[in-house]
Amino acid sequence: MSATRGDPSPGRRLVTEIPGPRSRELAARRARAVPDGVGTTLPVFISRAGPGILEDVDGNRLIDLGSGIAVTGAGNSPPQVVDAVREQVGLFAHTCFQVTPYAGYVEVCERLNELTPGGHEKRSFLVNSGAEAVENAVKVARYATGRPGIVAFDHGFHGRTLLTMSLTGKVNPYKRGFGPFVPEVHRAPYSDPFRETGRLDETITMLETTVGVESIAAVLVEPIAGEGGVVVPERGWLPGLAEWCRSQGILLIADEVQTGFGRTGDWFACEHEGVVPDLVATAKALGGGLPLGGITGRAEVMGSVHPGGLGGTFGGNPVACAAALAAIRTIETEGLVARARAIGERTLDRLHRLAADQPAMGSVRGRGAMVGVEFVRPGSMTPDRDIAGRVLRRCHQAGVVVLGAGTYGNVVRLLPPLVISDELLDEGLAILEEAVTAG
Ligand SMILES: Cc1ncc(COP(=O)(O)O)c(C=O)c1O
Repeated sequence: MSATRGDPSPGRRLVTEIPGPRSRELAARRARAVPDGVGTTLPVFISRAGPGILEDVDGNRLIDLGSGIAVTGAGNSPPQVVDAVREQVGLFAHTCFQVTPYAGYVEVCERLNELTPGGHEKRSFLVNSGAEAVENAVKVARYATGRPGIVAFDHGFHGRTLLTMSLTGKVNPYKRGFGPFVPEVHRAPYSDPFRETGRLDETITMLETTVGVESIAAVLVEPIAGEGGVVVPERGWLPGLAEWCRSQGILLIADEVQTGFGRTGDWFACEHEGVVPDLVATAKALGGGLPLGGITGRAEVMGSVHPGGLGGTFGGNPVACAAALAAIRTIETEGLVARARAIGERTLDRLHRLAADQPAMGSVRGRGAMVGVEFVRPGSMTPDRDIAGRVLRRCHQAGVVVLGAGTYGNVVRLLPPLVISDELLDEGLAILEEAVTAG
């Protein structure tokens, strides 16, 4: 059974302290089996899940405002995905697409070609994760342009492999002690309207004078910086960047790993300002809970790479493809892109009202079901990670899963599943409000 499915009133329920005794037992085993380098936001061990609810091994039900970091937007094991996965795994689980192909892979690529921004001819291929998607987009961009350089931004997060770590902006915890990093990565300031940084004209001058356009293969950008603190760039910044790239023969890679598949109230966040990237990296919600990443790009760019230059053993696994097709259909049939917009309006409205008399809430921002609250020392712009930490802990204790984020560690991030009910969302937000007003 998919967790709380069938239960007429699935809601938050705390029957032990958080974490409860069974979770604590498992945490002790985890400590003996898993290195601390693999962090934990909230050490409750989950046994099942329903729409907007995570149930733990002690029987507590937590409101999920994190979607496993923007993965379970279409629901956590929704019936359509469960049925598709069951059917596919009963037929065959793996062949390796490069050895003997199957239709599901092609169908996912067709959907990606159709849904990603732009009506031009596209090609896609599939990998296992967001990091792999970004890494492969960079490979293709370098190959297609014959140039080595990649521009990446402050606040950017692109993954934990050597290349994507090199592209990531924040040092601690992602990069500290793991260098040396990949050469030819050039960092530029991201547009942050709250902190008034990242003016496009200055960035362009800097790139033209200190890097040189002829050595830049691609500019890699998150349309909204997720891990960096849900930083929504100033209006016009992303289209301006795209325009400059086009004028210089530089490819624009949009990292839509976190923002894709309806999360921000459009299929892809680039669409809010009509930006059409040359390459799009996707993952997270694409697989409907199973590991899957995609790289979609202009046919001529993608077609430049020689046969065998791209791929991998598990990339586009048939079970993950079946789950992806079902998740995409669910987003369509249940109107979840529009639902993300409604979630965003409800959430932002409430948090803006709260911020009006909470000076520690320096900035409330986001798009659709991707919202961040940046905490500062009242009366200043100084990031305050202590307040953010206290708010997170209070929410967790009360049974609401919210996430931290931000280059300065001072952002509370909400990524609720797009299937969450208004009642659960409101309850979660009320608890967040209490956590903030408690100081
Ligand atoms: C924007 C962005 N790109 C890439 C990644 C890396 O994805 P993965 O963890 O699947 O490798 C993430 C993960 O949080 C992300 O948010």
